[in-house]
Amino acid sequence: VDWQLLVDAAILVQQRAYAPYSHFQVGAALMDSMGKLHIGCNVENASYGLSMCAERNAIAAMISAGDQRIVQMAVASNGGVTPCGACRQVISEFGEQVTILLLDSKTLSWRVCTISELLPRAFGGQHLS
Ligand code: THU
Repeated sequence: VDWQLLVDAAILVQQRAYAPYSHFQVGAALMDSMGKLHIGCNVENASYGLSMCAERNAIAAMISAGDQRIVQMAVASNGGVTPCGACRQVISEFGEQVTILLLDSKTLSWRVCTISELLPRAFGGQHLS
């Protein structure tokens, strides 16, 4: 579990965020089961509800690259916020044991948590049929 690469990537991609409405830029970097890195930033829209979070854009990049398992994810923001509820559900789809590093890119302080802490008793594919 080497966080440095993921932290550096999350800080880098945070700066590419398109957030002219909220001015809240977020960067996410994840490691897949093959050890490959995928990144995403939030992309907002004038039609606000169409905005997409950094975490889900990083997951879309992973799926597009051909992997379907998240091992660990770093999220960089001002304040080191936790992922929103929608992102928690989407993260849990691709890993029940994902560890997530929440980085405050202003102070470089951070904390680590797991998806099961953020989304206990998650609904998942195992509940279907
Ligand atoms: N946002 C993320 O990208 N990830 C989070 O974990 C929290 C919120 C984005 C969505 C929106 O573009 C902006 O931050 C403000 O909510």
